[in-house]
Amino acid sequence: MLEIQFSQARLPEDGAVALLLADDTTLTGLAAALDERLAGAVSRTLASGDFTGAAGCTATLLSPGGGLSRVVLVGLGKEAALTAAVAEKAGAVAVRALAKCADAVVLAEGPAALWAPSVAFGAVLESYRFDLYHTRQDEAARLRLARLAIGLDAPEAARAAWPALKAVADGVFVTRDLVSEPANILTPAEFAARAEALRADGVSVDVLDVAAMQALGFGALLGVAQGSEAEPKAVIMRWNGGAEGDAPVALIGKGVTFDSGGISIKPAGGMEEMKTDMAGAAAVVGAMTAIARGQAPVNVVGMIGLVENMLSGAAQRPGDVVRSYSGQTIEVQNTDAEGRLVLADLLWYAQDTFRPRAMIDLATLTGAIVVSLGHERAGLFASDDDLATRIATAGDTTGDQVWRMPMGDAYDKLIDSDIADMKNVAGRPGGSITAAQFLKRFTNDVAWAHLDIAGTAWASKGRPGCPKGATGFGVRLLDRLVRDYARV
Ligand code: BES
Ligand code: MN
Ligand code: ZN
Repeated sequence: MLEIQFSQARLPEDGAVALLLADDTTLTGLAAALDERLAGAVSRTLASGDFTGAAGCTATLLSPGGGLSRVVLVGLGKEAALTAAVAEKAGAVAVRALAKCADAVVLAEGPAALWAPSVAFGAVLESYRFDLYHTRQDEAARLRLARLAIGLDAPEAARAAWPALKAVADGVFVTRDLVSEPANILTPAEFAARAEALRADGVSVDVLDVAAMQALGFGALLGVAQGSEAEPKAVIMRWNGGAEGDAPVALIGKGVTFDSGGISIKPAGGMEEMKTDMAGAAAVVGAMTAIARGQAPVNVVGMIGLVENMLSGAAQRPGDVVRSYSGQTIEVQNTDAEGRLVLADLLWYAQDTFRPRAMIDLATLTGAIVVSLGHERAGLFASDDDLATRIATAGDTTGDQVWRMPMGDAYDKLIDSDIADMKNVAGRPGGSITAAQFLKRFTNDVAWAHLDIAGTAWASKGRPGCPKGATGFGVRLLDRLVRDYARV
């Protein structure tokens, strides 16, 4: 991870420097001193109109003289409109422009100083790379930048604020790493082993194996797993940062390490993306990391179901009927609607065992949510308006944005089955909603929300603070949500 330092602002003798400038682009303080050292090169760039100071715009001066290798101007937009999100974007675009420098100084003078931790946060999020399997360096994609010194007046406050943000960035990186791993490496057992690493952060971790899940009666989850050679696991993670006996917030994640569709097999084109079908579980592990390292003063339970959805002579067939942990029976009409089967047993277990004050599941559940909301927002489904509002607000403030979708009895009755209590699919219309209605039948009136992250877990194009690939969606939202529960 990019190393961050906050230090007293000063002009370096050599190397690379980034200047954060609001859109009035007046040069004061060290920026003015730098311009003078460069014989007006910064003012001339501003006068050229190439750099407006709009939020997120940049201009780079290469070998500008004065001993410096490069100077990057980064726009902050209107001073009055400066927010954490704008500061993060500035940090991210600065890292893009400084990618080929081993280290650099970012001068955060004036209004930017207050937002220095957010600048660092955006910079770190942008610096993410998943490089494990390249044996040759891709020079174009490579990030040489290893250290970023952020210069400001009175850096102590920024230094004190940084560990909390660093914990969240750690969590986002954990999630991105898990989602990026191929399914031959990240099997259910390997995923469970990585979740066990949370013990080092003070999280208690229990792993349920097949025998334990059979004994409990996790018939819905085990039905999905039975076609794979890989043994399924369920993992329970507990962070007790709140008062003893306080009802926890429960976070539940779909962890299908590969989704072939099973006997209802998917088309070949794009099937490789189904290695990301564990992004909900990865978001829960990332959030637990952020919550524990950030010492969140609240009780949180995380639970993930890890299975591989494969085809074999032992695989579940369309038409099979399974008995879920809740006792309700399910007709499996389509083996590709497996996520809801995995979540059904986890949701019932979580509400029954932990009596949570709120229960939130995350899942790459339906292609239909990508049709509805694209890659910009996750679908939010909730049985509780207060919880829905908290999630939408946490999403807006952190950038993990969601959009609430409707639910209701008219949708619920579409999953009634002729042979069992319910069926796991209900045709194409409203496919994300009927999936959510299915989950709701396993929540037993606990305040519950479901985030369908099928469109937001993976990005084929990068954005500032989020290189293309695994996004880490959900970690920031969940960390914020849980912290807000600590306050009220
Ligand atoms: N994992 C998929 C959903 C998915 C689609 C995730 C695209 C990421 C990107 C899920 O298990 C699935 O296959 N859903 C089916 C449900 C259908 C059979 C009712 C779908 O969306 O087609
Ligand atoms: Mn599927
Ligand atoms: Zn799936």
